[in-house]
Amino acid sequence: MAFEIPDGIKTWSQFGHPILMWVLLGLAVYALYLGLQYKKVRSADKETRKELVKQKFGERHHQAGSILLALMVLGNIGAMAVTYINNGKLFVGSHLLTGLGMTCLIAVSASLVPLMQKGNSLARNTHVSLNIVLLGLFGWQAITGMQIVQKILDKMVS
Ligand code: HEM
Ligand code: HEM
Repeated sequence: MAFEIPDGIKTWSQFGHPILMWVLLGLAVYALYLGLQYKKVRSADKETRKELVKQKFGERHHQAGSILLALMVLGNIGAMAVTYINNGKLFVGSHLLTGLGMTCLIAVSASLVPLMQKGNSLARNTHVSLNIVLLGLFGWQAITGMQIVQKILDKMVS
């Protein structure tokens, strides 16, 4: 017996990804803040350092980064699945390709962590650069993503 997903679930599932991605955009900005605070800890004088270390910016950044990594991969693959279920195809365009590019960037960025923890400054600078590009692309994804939301809403009312 073939399993049919109910139409209501098919249609409404399209809003899960955009909502998740707005939350992740906030989390990415927070991760940037924590990362910059951690950078400050390493270059601060002894007294300021003592105060900053208590706030565990490094550990909190790593946690935020890990959550971001996991949810970005799941959110990206989930969106492709939902798009396919609703349209019987994927739309090879800016949003899909940028999304796949971003997922690759965050994976490479996270894979540099063991080297960074050994104090490799090339890995650290690459990590920061990749993630700045990631944040820029995220802004672009939010614009093209909202255009898709608009299209879905238009389709729902017509
Ligand atoms: C929006 C995404 C991210 C941004 C903007 C970002 C930014 C930064 C910055 C500015 C630093 C400080 C570098 C320095 O001290 O010079 C840093 C360090 C670090 N990041 Fe990220 N990061 C992001 C995502 C991630 C992810 C996905 C992970 C891992 C899952 C991660 C793990 C780490 C770790 C472990 C360090 C400290 C490494 C060390 O011991 O020196 N970050 N990051
Ligand atoms: C605020 C930001 C974003 C918004 C509003 C948004 C919105 C959307 C919407 C409405 C869809 C249609 C399918 C669905 O709803 O599941 C979609 C598809 C998709 N999104 Fe996003 N998105 C955003 C960010 C991202 C990010 C950061 C990524 C990847 C890291 C991504 C990857 C994708 C992919 C791969 C698809 C499937 C496209 C296709 O096959 O045509 N999106 N997005």
